[in-house]
Amino acid sequence: GSYQTEVFRQGGSPFPFTVGGLEREAKSALPEKYFDYIAGGAGCENTVAANRAAFTRWGLIYRVLRDGIPADPGCELFGARLSMPVLLAPAGVGELAHREAETAAARAAAEVGVAQVLSAVASSSLEQVAQAAPHGTRWFQFAWPDDEKLARSLIARTEAAGYGAIMVMGDCYAAGWRTRELSAGFFPFDHCYGLGNYLSDPRFWELIGQPMDVQGDDIPDMSRVARSVAATAASTWNRVFAKPALTVTDIEQLRTWTRLPILVKGVCHPGEAAALIDAGVDGLVVSNHGGRQLDNCVAALDCLPGVVEAVGDRVPVLFDSGVRTGTDVLIALALGAKAVMIGRPWLYGLAIGGQAGVTHVLRCIHAELTSALTLTGHRRADTLSTDDLTRTALA
Ligand code: FNR
Repeated sequence: GSYQTEVFRQGGSPFPFTVGGLEREAKSALPEKYFDYIAGGAGCENTVAANRAAFTRWGLIYRVLRDGIPADPGCELFGARLSMPVLLAPAGVGELAHREAETAAARAAAEVGVAQVLSAVASSSLEQVAQAAPHGTRWFQFAWPDDEKLARSLIARTEAAGYGAIMVMGDCYAAGWRTRELSAGFFPFDHCYGLGNYLSDPRFWELIGQPMDVQGDDIPDMSRVARSVAATAASTWNRVFAKPALTVTDIEQLRTWTRLPILVKGVCHPGEAAALIDAGVDGLVVSNHGGRQLDNCVAALDCLPGVVEAVGDRVPVLFDSGVRTGTDVLIALALGAKAVMIGRPWLYGLAIGGQAGVTHVLRCIHAELTSALTLTGHRRADTLSTDDLTRTALA
């Protein structure tokens, strides 16, 4: 049965049905600085607002006299069968939202049948996430460490733990000007949060010059490990986390390290697509990092048609930044995205209800998407096109 039917039968839900409601509850559930890290954006947060506003400038065209057979938004993406073309976007430091962090999100994604993209700076390690949901579809967001051994170790672990694709974060080479974090004086990595993938890697300990302090798949006592790491690691931080410059040559090199599909996240300029595809990339993600990096940036949604046009049918184009509802998913798909990722909504769900909260968020999107597909005259998600949209008067 549908999620609506289930909710009515149970006389409601402990969780809110709007992202505004989820955000409010997450805010009251979390320490303020943790909430601000999750919710905040760069500068005056104009990009965050623009990402949302862009959706209101498109209208879906409603259709009549159709057969009313419920749509099925299920799809196939890089060989995986998904219940809908939606993924959990990579977001670091899940432990700020919930102690079960990305493992709870992994179970929720598997339960609903969507893919999870694990952040490089997740709190749970690649292996812990794989163990939490062995049958789930999982991809890894790779942030290039400035150490080839560590980079290759992460890629080898990604393959060994059954991840289905690698998503390279292309848009984070400069730290965003994040005013909420500055005001709170809180930057999670300075407190050694979000190190699940590094603390579980022997090469990380070699780089910081300490004996490895975590065994096997143990969930480390983060505060203990963090204290010991923080004492010596500050000077090696940059080397561990970020290669100062990332070029198309690096992508070509990654292509030789792995047979997994490679996607590059953060592409907004149509002119960048061709070189990436020539370098062997299997997919692009149009994203402005949810407005967390560059303020006064064009809405990510407004970049989607240009990139889709430049790419043609050579590789799938995915989208994120501002997707909140099932109808937002429809708009992005109609503009040519093959799938979309959601960021903050799943973190809010995690903050207020752990696995059950993330499951709720995903089931709401699935239910609304299914209903909206039917109402726009579709049985499947891959038949949407710009014919289903019109620019609204605000445009
Ligand atoms: C992110 N995002 C992100 N992206 C990435 O590639 N690696 C990362 O570690 C993170 N970390 C991260 C933390 C938090 C708290 C948030 C909210 C986001 C960006 C994320 O993948 C995605 O691009 C945006 O969240 C999408 O925008 P919405 O859905 O949040 O509007």
